[in-house]
Amino acid sequence: MISNFVLILLQILLGLLALPITSTVAVVFVSIDCGSSKSFIDDKHNITWVGDDQYIKSGESRAVQAAPESSISPIYSTLRVFPTRNKNCYSINAGGKGQRVLLRAYFYYGNYDGKMSPPTFDLQFDGNDWVKGVNASGGPSYYEVIYVTKFDSLSVCLAQTEDNQYPFINGINVRSLDLGLYSDIDSGRPLFTRDRINYGGDKILRYPDDPYDRFWFPDKGGNRLSTVKRDSLNTVVEFSNKPPRSALLTAMTTDNSATLDLNLYFPKTEITIYIILYFVELLDQSNSDRTFFLYINEEASFDPITLQYGGAAYKYVVAKASSGTVFSLRSSSDSALPPLINALELFSVGPSLTNGTLNKDVRALALLQKTFTQLQEWSGDPCLPEKFTWDWVECSYQNTPRITRLKLNDLGLKGSLPDFSALDALQQIDLHNNLLTGKIPDFLGDFPNLNSLNLENNTFSGSIPASLTNNNNLKLKVSDYSSGTCASQPCKPSNNRTSNSPPSSKKSESLLILLGMIPVFVLIQYS
Ligand SMILES: *[C@@H]1O[C@H](CO)[C@@H](O)[C@H](O)[C@H]1NC(C)=O
Ligand SMILES: *[C@@H]1O[C@H](CO)[C@@H](O)[C@H](O)[C@H]1NC(C)=O
Ligand SMILES: *[C@@H]1O[C@H](CO)[C@@H](O)[C@H](O)[C@H]1NC(C)=O
Ligand SMILES: *[C@@H]1O[C@H](CO)[C@@H](O)[C@H](O)[C@H]1NC(C)=O
Ligand SMILES: *[C@@H]1O[C@H](CO)[C@@H](O)[C@H](O)[C@H]1NC(C)=O
Repeated sequence: MISNFVLILLQILLGLLALPITSTVAVVFVSIDCGSSKSFIDDKHNITWVGDDQYIKSGESRAVQAAPESSISPIYSTLRVFPTRNKNCYSINAGGKGQRVLLRAYFYYGNYDGKMSPPTFDLQFDGNDWVKGVNASGGPSYYEVIYVTKFDSLSVCLAQTEDNQYPFINGINVRSLDLGLYSDIDSGRPLFTRDRINYGGDKILRYPDDPYDRFWFPDKGGNRLSTVKRDSLNTVVEFSNKPPRSALLTAMTTDNSATLDLNLYFPKTEITIYIILYFVELLDQSNSDRTFFLYINEEASFDPITLQYGGAAYKYVVAKASSGTVFSLRSSSDSALPPLINALELFSVGPSLTNGTLNKDVRALALLQKTFTQLQEWSGDPCLPEKFTWDWVECSYQNTPRITRLKLNDLGLKGSLPDFSALDALQQIDLHNNLLTGKIPDFLGDFPNLNSLNLENNTFSGSIPASLTNNNNLKLKVSDYSSGTCASQPCKPSNNRTSNSPPSSKKSESLLILLGMIPVFVLIQYS
């Protein structure tokens, strides 16, 4: 049974440790107050929050009706809402790719729109799903994920999933973690935090107690359990996940019972969990030791945990769990003392992180964005998660996503086209009704899969490149309404190219049929 159930289980008994405590500082420690343009310091935690202007270009700021009291965060009074686009992304520099980061997003509806109707929407990061259906109908809430970044900057995206329900967000935290933290798990998988417990504690522990600003919630365990506290430890305990020392100075144990139920809750549908248990013996009872097992339902997992005064142990399990799964600690029959636990972390392990849309496509889009300011409101992955693309692209999703279509018509794009020839999976390009100038670039004819190119109603100059006119498979539209006699709207043909340019081949036929609908043809001439 257990072998089906437990995917990985590891126990490290540290015994007496005397490692030096290395002081840790998170390299990236960004706290964004969404919808605000001011910075302020949260005195209680000594955390500086900044406004979100520099991280996003879409959305609108709003104030909630009354900001709630929150022991976690003072940033619930403002939010940023996104009424116009289906995907809106914050882009945050987190020290480059390959960094382990903790990312947190905060939500509080607070009836900011006076409609008493909290929306539901999706939360995403770096092209991956994070929360499907954020439920903003309760009090303030937050979601947290820990993962190793794959891109130079990270993105937090809010995606609309229901008509007239506009996504919003109140705050974002990014904390860099050392790579050694949580390295038990394949670094290609995200860890979604479900619980982080400081047993026997009496307050939420976080920054500056925890330099990584993880939130450790107290669990006093109710009447049937008792807490153990010490002011200091004679020995120095250091775990690879670096829980704050103050979280290890308290613990929970039972009064009489040999069983300590961890009271963890799981969803109905089975998830893969990563659970980490921290044990430090706080009681000096020199003649007695404490030996207990971790049970998953009725199965004892592997070796017993044995603690002596000052000793420490760290244990993690990767297992499947659902609403019926019970984790408990049970003392062995010869143990003098009942089980004890100091701290616990519980994550669900997500599916492999996406590698994102093909990088050369992303770079080519960035070039378009650099050239045309109108496109700069879009950030995050252009194609992912699937179905949540930028408004002006379409993608294919076999293996690595590619850009197959550019929908850049009617955007007021001004100037000449940059070289976006790297987008070589393009099938359709629509650039009509813009103010594009300069030569029609040759590379437009070189896309191997391009079957439709619409350049109508721009102010290009020069001739149509042979690469375009020679392309049999291409449906091409190139007329230029802005030149010559076409003053009335909608523009009516005043000349008829078809009659004086009889078709000579299949390809020019299709070209000329299109041109037949076209009015004047002044700036563009066949070479
Ligand atoms: C607050 O944090 C800053 C660094 O961000 C540090 O220099 C300062 O000493 C801290 N102040 C307190 C009261 O902890
Ligand atoms: C959202 O949360 C509220 C209160 O927290 C709860 O009553 C409601 O059932 C939840 N809705 C969904 C769809 O989960
Ligand atoms: C991402 O790329 C790595 C190496 O290039 C590959 O092993 C992995 O399977 C890819 N992941 C996904 C989800 O495609
Ligand atoms: C040509 O494009 C401009 C925008 O650049 C637009 O205002 C105009 O209506 C377009 N003309 C036609 C005939 O569609
Ligand atoms: C344009 O050519 C079509 C036939 O190709 C013809 O029926 C039509 O009358 C012509 N229009 C003008 C304005 O010459």
